[in-house]
Amino acid sequence: MNKISIVGAGRVGETTAQILAQQHLADEVALLDVRKGAAAGSALDICQSAAYFGFDTRVTGGTDAALLTGSDLVIITAGSPRKPGMSRSDVLDVNRKVIDSIVDDVLKYAPDSMLLLVSNPVDVLTWEAWQRTGWDRNRVFGQAGVLDTSRMASFMAEETGLSVQDVHAMVIGGHGDLMVPLTRFSTINGVPASGFLDATAIARINKRTRHGGAEVLKLRQISSAYIAPAAAVATMVDSIVHNRRRVLPCVCVLDGEYGQSNITGGVPAIVGRKGIEKVVELPLSEEEKTGFQASIDSIAADIKTL
Ligand code: 2OP
Repeated sequence: MNKISIVGAGRVGETTAQILAQQHLADEVALLDVRKGAAAGSALDICQSAAYFGFDTRVTGGTDAALLTGSDLVIITAGSPRKPGMSRSDVLDVNRKVIDSIVDDVLKYAPDSMLLLVSNPVDVLTWEAWQRTGWDRNRVFGQAGVLDTSRMASFMAEETGLSVQDVHAMVIGGHGDLMVPLTRFSTINGVPASGFLDATAIARINKRTRHGGAEVLKLRQISSAYIAPAAAVATMVDSIVHNRRRVLPCVCVLDGEYGQSNITGGVPAIVGRKGIEKVVELPLSEEEKTGFQASIDSIAADIKTL
């Protein structure tokens, strides 16, 4: 991929830029931020680490939307983060306006790109961006599930004392308190995770996963999580750039899958060069279906307010 732009040079945006550069995932990474100097400063800082990390990716930064020109992929991390005690939906009104104006810039300067939404509430804003672009649904998607599953995997590794590298977790639904961690579809290198965990441990893991972002925010107070979120975005970008066709949980526009239409939600999907290649349907139990439906209903309630 030649050029990837990141709109929003906050902690998630700049950390993502640094990982993309370090992993040579683009020839050029452009960082944009409305705050004068913020993106240019981050870009300069990242460039000055290139000699030690050994990358040649050109990282640029600025305030001018024309920087988006020629982007193959635009990642949107801009917007107001939530403060301790707030839900992700509490920042919908303010972030919707931010996303609308960025999408308009993308339509003007990078009309052939793909859009990866990160700003919260990500499920609702992915819907908003998809509607505003009018693009095919494979080109507009969001990051949430890769982060939520990496949180779940980390808690499973902690509870079992086993290597996190062998843990494969799965979380579906919206990126909110009603997300659905799926122990039944989680394994330790192919061995069902339930064999390593008792019911109380599973309940603890699920609860911490659902509140994973809030736990970090409560500890840090002045910042939400940004290292794991940036790593999650880079994981999706890596699958796109190398056309790996990994099965990753992503925020997708649903068109009949899981019995849902005209809605976005977190589901596993094949991620490749063209973005979301295909939504993968899991054979959910009745209880899992009920949990997924409740999570989708809460996204739909927010979408109604747009
Ligand atoms: C998180 O879960 C901020 O949504 C982000 O940490």
